[in-house]
Amino acid sequence: MTDTGLLGVQKTLTPVLKAKALDNRLPDPILGDTYAERVMRLLDPAYDQRRFGTSQVGLVAVVRARAHDDWARGFLAEHPDAVVLHLGCGLDARPYRIDPPPTVDWYDLDYPTVIDLRRRLLPPREHHHTLIGVDVTDLTWLERVPRGRPALMIAEGLVPYLTEEDVRRLLTSVVDAFPSGQIQFDTVAVWAWRTSRWNPALRMYDARFHCGFDVPAALAAWHPRLEYVDEAPMNDAPLLMAKAPAGVRRLYRVMNLLPGMKRSTRIVRFRFRETPV
Ligand SMILES: C[S@@+](CC[C@H](N)C(=O)[O-])C[C@H]1O[C@@H](n2cnc3c(N)ncnc32)[C@H](O)[C@@H]1O
Repeated sequence: MTDTGLLGVQKTLTPVLKAKALDNRLPDPILGDTYAERVMRLLDPAYDQRRFGTSQVGLVAVVRARAHDDWARGFLAEHPDAVVLHLGCGLDARPYRIDPPPTVDWYDLDYPTVIDLRRRLLPPREHHHTLIGVDVTDLTWLERVPRGRPALMIAEGLVPYLTEEDVRRLLTSVVDAFPSGQIQFDTVAVWAWRTSRWNPALRMYDARFHCGFDVPAALAAWHPRLEYVDEAPMNDAPLLMAKAPAGVRRLYRVMNLLPGMKRSTRIVRFRFRETPV
């Protein structure tokens, strides 16, 4: 594995990238992300050689990415003048997969070390694509983004690593900054947050969750202009059941029988509009 300089939570981008790289090797991939495979190989040329190296157990993260892509494509089709805030972007190739029209301004944000790595491993994009290396909870980055246009905020795999107070400030500040928009992210259940210090996957990266929500729709109450729209399935997603190899499907069917497991992580979408006069 190349020495990336990533620390703690920043390292959580790797398993997600690996899942996307492995998905691309399926005969009928869920995401079909060729960038993920290329970048994963550059990061770790032997990523698929070790024990469980080609295991597709992580495919659920790919289902999550696909849900975020589908929602984002829908919003950008309706709002080709949008500003995209892709928070905690890691090494995800979403702007390349979605390839929005040049009228869209796309911002990829993550910690400076991650953004430096992103610059090295992913090619520059021609149109209106800005990378900002920052802690996203330091909301001064919002001053660098154009206002007065619809905003699309995507936070995939980010929110559980922030505190509830930071999530609240982030969401309400984004709503306050734009006339209208869509906010999509994923969260974990309260039990998954509370037990995260013992979660072996997180311990491996020296990371922990800092918030969890059993009723993410209730977050709409944080701002009078924020409305909950819907949720996309994850651990029991039809796409996962249709495309994952048989062993992985069986594993998820059994895990989903455990109480709280099916909804241990949720992908949710909110919208906001101008206040009617
Ligand atoms: C699980 S990874 C997800 C990466 C990417 N969204 C994906 O799905 O492939 C979490 C990402 O959030 C970033 N992150 C966590 N807390 C952050 C913060 N306060 N500011 C900026 N980035 C943050 C990490 O550096 C990491 O890249």
